[in-house]
Amino acid sequence: NAVVFSGIQPTGVPHLGNYLGAMRQWKRLQDDAHEDDKLLYSIVDLHAITMPQDAEILRRRRREMLAALIAIGLDPERSILFYQSSVSQHAELMWILSCTASMGYLSRMTQWKSKLQMSNKGEDLDDAAAARLKLGLFSYPVLQAADILVHGATHVPVGHDQKQHLEFARECATNFNHKFANVLVPPETVLTNSPRVMSLMNPNNKMSKSAPNEKSRILIMAEPQEIHQRIMGAVTDFENVVTYEPRRRPGVANLLELLAQCSPNYVAPAVLAEKMAGASLGELKQQVSRAVTAELGGIRDRYHDLLSRHGGKYLDEIEEAGAEKARKSAEETMRAVRYAVGLSSR
Ligand code: TYM
Repeated sequence: NAVVFSGIQPTGVPHLGNYLGAMRQWKRLQDDAHEDDKLLYSIVDLHAITMPQDAEILRRRRREMLAALIAIGLDPERSILFYQSSVSQHAELMWILSCTASMGYLSRMTQWKSKLQMSNKGEDLDDAAAARLKLGLFSYPVLQAADILVHGATHVPVGHDQKQHLEFARECATNFNHKFANVLVPPETVLTNSPRVMSLMNPNNKMSKSAPNEKSRILIMAEPQEIHQRIMGAVTDFENVVTYEPRRRPGVANLLELLAQCSPNYVAPAVLAEKMAGASLGELKQQVSRAVTAELGGIRDRYHDLLSRHGGKYLDEIEEAGAEKARKSAEETMRAVRYAVGLSSR
């Protein structure tokens, strides 16, 4: 039976990249799942604190993320929704995996290298930069591997930027199985048709929750007017025709990709470009704006409704029930792991 696991950091309201790249896939997997398949989607608050967070804001964002997951169509009766920190087995397995994970492999991970560069401006690591960088950021991928492996996930639907982390998780499973006993399942990545959604302000970077310019992203709760303004303001280029050339014209390609993804029936962006030959970029943007607004319609209303329902108590109950189920699921693996390592007598 399939076990689906994925996670999202509660570091802000999800944007179109999170939604089209991952979350929409989560709902599809849920809707297509066989009765015996297990689905778990976690709000990874322990990952969020690898960067400084204000406690009050983190508390609020965890809850908002839970509302967002339900608003996009995840059904808490069918999918297990929970905060990562509510299931201590994640952190426990992380420690055990840390004891077989390679420092060399971790230091080559892109996310670490880019954070290293930001903090260090490309020079050799001096004492001050080394003090600013935190151990949790370095071992981030080990915790992610634990998230996946502790539930025996067979399928992990993520966006392209997580491919390297998934490769590392497989490596952790193989290492463990080789050293101790065959208890961990190397997971598959699921990227079917998942787009890399790029920033609206700099189409060479991915759309991200943390980019300083808000105009670079569209939040999935955005009002239609805001969606329209952001799409119309998207950076493209000075050729006022529609062609699909991702390398040469990344801004236009990104808009075509959004249109492809948000059309009721998926048509490849290159085909859309051919159909729009003769149209202006303004016309393309109008179409994208309409398609995105239609795709996100309804999510915003459900979201606000969920957050206000019974003063938010409804969400607390869902989280508690989800955490309970997730703890059961994780404990099954942990029992075998503890025994294999020699940390329990049965
Ligand atoms: P996070 O919170 O950055 O993003 C959540 C999901 O959204 C995808 N994504 C994108 N897809 C396409 N285009 C974009 N511009 C874009 N931006 C984000 C991400 O690929 C991701 O699937 N490390 C993970 C969280 C995590 C996790 C896990 C994921 C922790 N443990 C275990 C899977 C399994 C992260 O930071 O995602």
